[in-house]
Amino acid sequence: MQIDKVAEIKSAIATAEARNQQELEEYRLKFISKKSVVGELFAEMRHLPAEEKKGFGQVINEVKQLAEQKFQELIEQLNNGLSNTKKETPDLTLPPTQIPVGGIHPLTATRQRIIEIFERIGFNLSEGPEIEDDWHNFTALNFPENHPAREMQDTFFIEKNPDIALRTHTSSVQVRVMENQKPPIRTLSPGRVFRNEAISARAHCIFHQVEGLYVDEAVSFADLKQTLFHFAKEMFGKTTKVRFRPSFFPFTEPSAEIDISCLLCGGTGCNVCKGTGWVEIGGSGMVDPNVLENCGIDSIKYTGFAFGMGIERIAMLKYQIKDLRLFTENDVRFLRQFRPML
Ligand code: DAH
Repeated sequence: MQIDKVAEIKSAIATAEARNQQELEEYRLKFISKKSVVGELFAEMRHLPAEEKKGFGQVINEVKQLAEQKFQELIEQLNNGLSNTKKETPDLTLPPTQIPVGGIHPLTATRQRIIEIFERIGFNLSEGPEIEDDWHNFTALNFPENHPAREMQDTFFIEKNPDIALRTHTSSVQVRVMENQKPPIRTLSPGRVFRNEAISARAHCIFHQVEGLYVDEAVSFADLKQTLFHFAKEMFGKTTKVRFRPSFFPFTEPSAEIDISCLLCGGTGCNVCKGTGWVEIGGSGMVDPNVLENCGIDSIKYTGFAFGMGIERIAMLKYQIKDLRLFTENDVRFLRQFRPML
């Protein structure tokens, strides 16, 4: 009879549950406390004949241990359950955790801004290959064979084929556009260029340029000046002054270097402008009639202007960055500074 009762208690312990503190307390009262069913078994033991006592004692000790073990399990389950529900209920009064967001690289931001300014005045975008042939990088642009200007550009040639090189400037894209389109042409060509130069704070072997080209009937140097005036004021601010310095490029005649008034000192002279009050941002000129003809454009009917500017140069002036190498080192301490601006 007691054996049946023991089996019943054992199975009740095994299937017991405690979903909250109250049920846990009920379990404790029923199976652990002095007045519990297990306690009653101990009381019953006293009435047994001496020879049965020992065996029965062992059995109920086992039940007692089971009951206590289960009690610990129930406590643990209940605690875990409680902490789980805590996780599921968010505290809406907490401040939000910051999710790190990526920034826009200063060169990308500068390129985008340049494109935006020229797109508004009717320029479209064009691209050309970074690996270029001699025709597009030099010959069509009026560089004579063996001309020192080819040397001056510190070209990276491909050893086995002297006709192929990494483009030294985006002027090669001018040629490709003029070969494939009829005037009127108004195009902007941003891109990567390569020169065999030692890397320093002021020079790099890989950098970016943006080329502009406008070909139509009666395009004049006044149009060139006005376009670049407009660009400089949009890019650097209304008070920026622009100056054109006579220069030479094989592909333009006349040619001019473009200077803007120094952004740091406003023209009075500092170490960025080396005391002159002016900083150079690129080259420009009227497209040489030879270049138009090389590309199949009638140089009697059409004239054009072109310009080329360094994107790093413009970004350095705009953001006052003193070392060109920072653009390619990917140091997050540098890059993070550009997040709030964009
Ligand atoms: N291609 C020249 C360079 O890399 C820059 C340049 C000068 C481009 C005058 C032009 C231009 O289109 O008209 O230094």
